[in-house]
Amino acid sequence: MTTPSADANWQSAARLAAPAGELAMSESHDEPQTRRDLLGKAAFWTTAGTLGFAALGTSRMPMPGVFPGQSSQLKIGLPGEYPVSAEPTRVPGQNLFVLHEADGYAVIGAICTHLGCVVAPTGEGFDCPCHGSRFARDGKVVKGPAPSALPWYEVSLGLDGQMVVDTKKTVPVGTKVVL
Ligand code: FES
Repeated sequence: MTTPSADANWQSAARLAAPAGELAMSESHDEPQTRRDLLGKAAFWTTAGTLGFAALGTSRMPMPGVFPGQSSQLKIGLPGEYPVSAEPTRVPGQNLFVLHEADGYAVIGAICTHLGCVVAPTGEGFDCPCHGSRFARDGKVVKGPAPSALPWYEVSLGLDGQMVVDTKKTVPVGTKVVL
């Protein structure tokens, strides 16, 4: 059995010893905590990296790997939008001209056959602004360096009454259709 003063002394000694004990425990846990921190950081960056790559992969998912080819058929409006004229009419938004004469319609490409600049109508034909090629009204070369005539494309009438040009199908120069 302990006396009250002996008990007080023991408690006081225990209180004094406690900080030293905690310090000892803390010192002995320093190394494991550092390792734990390191592992925590590694886990964080691994997760962040994984999520980053997953987000990157997800963002690419809606994009198809192969794109379907663009149609070569273009609707260029109603025939009445291109009145009979000695001057070819530029198709709005396209590198094409419509030539409408008494004997029918023709669609002529506006891309120079030399290096691909867009030609401009002159009233007598077409001039290329890049290297000086000149083309007659029917697209034939008048002056080089263009190696060949401007292409004439197949044109037809669609079910909705619009003119349809197929830019993958050329027709002989001078081919006109009545629409
Ligand atoms: S691109 Fe037309 S003359 Fe060269």
